[in-house]
Amino acid sequence: MTVFISEDKILEIKNAADIVDVISENVLLKKTGKNYIGLCPFHSEKTPSFTVSPQKQIFYCFGCAAGGNVFSFIMKRDGISFPEAVRMLSRQYGIPIPLQKMSDAQNRRQSEREGLLGVNRHAMEFYHQMLLNPASGEQAAAYLEKRGVQQETIKTFKIGYAPEGWNNLANFFLKKKMPLDTIEKAGLIVERGNKNGFYDRFRNRIIFPIFNLNVDIIGFGGRVMNDDMPKYMNSPETLIYNKSGSLYGLHLAKQTCREKEIAYVAEGYFDLLALHQNGINNSVATLGTSLTSEHVQIIKGLVGKDGNVVLVFDSDDAGIKAALRSIGIFLNAGMNARVMVLPSGYDPDSYLLEFGKASFLKVAEKAQSIMSFLMNALIEKHGLSVEGKIRVVSEMRETLLSIEDRVARSLYIKDLAERLEIEETAVLEKVRDASLRTHGRDERNKFSNHKFSGDDSKNGFPNTVKQRPFYSKWEKLELQIIEMMVQFPTILSEIEERRILGLFEDKRLKSIGQLILSHKDRLDASLADLINLIDEKDQKSIVAAMAIAESKWDYAACLTILARFESLRNKDKKALIKKIKEAEENNDYELLAKLLSEKQKMAVLTEKKKMTLLK
Ligand code: CTP
Ligand code: MN
Repeated sequence: MTVFISEDKILEIKNAADIVDVISENVLLKKTGKNYIGLCPFHSEKTPSFTVSPQKQIFYCFGCAAGGNVFSFIMKRDGISFPEAVRMLSRQYGIPIPLQKMSDAQNRRQSEREGLLGVNRHAMEFYHQMLLNPASGEQAAAYLEKRGVQQETIKTFKIGYAPEGWNNLANFFLKKKMPLDTIEKAGLIVERGNKNGFYDRFRNRIIFPIFNLNVDIIGFGGRVMNDDMPKYMNSPETLIYNKSGSLYGLHLAKQTCREKEIAYVAEGYFDLLALHQNGINNSVATLGTSLTSEHVQIIKGLVGKDGNVVLVFDSDDAGIKAALRSIGIFLNAGMNARVMVLPSGYDPDSYLLEFGKASFLKVAEKAQSIMSFLMNALIEKHGLSVEGKIRVVSEMRETLLSIEDRVARSLYIKDLAERLEIEETAVLEKVRDASLRTHGRDERNKFSNHKFSGDDSKNGFPNTVKQRPFYSKWEKLELQIIEMMVQFPTILSEIEERRILGLFEDKRLKSIGQLILSHKDRLDASLADLINLIDEKDQKSIVAAMAIAESKWDYAACLTILARFESLRNKDKKALIKKIKEAEENNDYELLAKLLSEKQKMAVLTEKKKMTLLK
């Protein structure tokens, strides 16, 4: 890989991007002692095992063993490469990276991403100016005013207007001498059928730019100003725009969501604007898709696991549909959500315009938990006749099935049976029927994974790491030695002199040990760098786990372990000699050759050790 960002720059960015700061954007962190803890964004959990050390600038999850430094966090969070993560933080923290020759595919992708962001920003400015300029935007401004959108809101949300005509935006970019194929990739212009140029996607529409948490513009939505169809038109998904992971208003809701630990989730652009204008800033809106688990993870990161989510729906029917789809998502994310339903014919926008904030919040107070909303709404819809009850159960079946937690699932089944006044076993059978057909093995695996609660983490590495094959006595010892090297660097010279790493059997642990030794003089300062240098994910996690745990070592304890390790190795030698004899007796020459070469290696080691002892 071409190195195109200098080490200095990386260091500068890392120093600026405090890990607690960065992670706080996604995870609600609470201070405990020296560290911060929160709910892991990388797996679903109910008790926090995600730990961040401000001192060492690393994170580690004792539940799923994800760990590393600030760059590893971004890489994992966004599924991007190291250079991409560096660039993202450089943008966020305003540390420009001097442009250097980029050659490989990875770099192209990153510059493509940046190209698209640039195009979107220019387009946003263009649309915004078109709206502000009375010559082009008078009608659009009048429409927005009619809909109760205030001037300040237009500025905050950078709302714009795409004028009538087929080439306004294309010409704007042509004048700027920007290549049209990038504009097309951003979804702003569309190639004509006969490959004869391009036309603007958005014409004569109010434009809503969509921002991400970095306040980059990732896409646009556009609404007509009359009853034409389609009412809304949106940017297509691009390298930078993924609808199921984006929420309208997120960048402005972040702060208040954290403070209030409540988020309102609406469905439309105008709804979101109305919520904001009424001071309900802790609101976001989906973008013409139903709520996904990605959305829920984002929201959870803002309000915390014990935070509240209030889903705002226009009608019972829309509510039922959405609740059916999203209940499992919330439960599996370990979150409670409530549903508020507005009187029929109203959406948050029209309701707020007509009745105001206080009345809206009163309805919000009555929001029921998503499950009881669903049961009530379905019973209301189908009635309690025999047929009605059958309908209710069968409409709820999929939803009940999507609940991974068995205890929660059976509680809900019990509830439903009670509400319908039928035998619990009848509901159970109906659900189980489907369960056997659709789920099965996968599901069992899921449950067995959930057993790792990270309780056995006192020794510095969690169950999940121990589940990996570190079984033999000395493999465990090797792990302990690495741990002391990380946690008690004073021992490093002892380890070096006694050539302890030479006795290691596990190659991965050995290479971690060597890496630590090579950073010996500045280990404290550079643990986070060191973790970065480890290529393999598992190994990264192991070291991060050790680094984040409290040190339990003193010199004497280290020496005891080292002596034990050496003596086990010697016994090992005796065992080896015994095996060699056996192989000879059995005429197993293949095994014999292998054992002899092992013995050879061992002899070399012993020799080296003798030499150091003599020194
Ligand atoms: N939506 C969309 N494409 C459509 C219709 C709707 O992407 N063809 C999305 C938009 O994000 C819209 C939301 O779904 O804001 C809700 O749609 P709807 O309730 O029809 O519109 P409102 O937001 O209420 O818009 P308005 O009040 O202007 O009618
Ligand atoms: Mn509306």
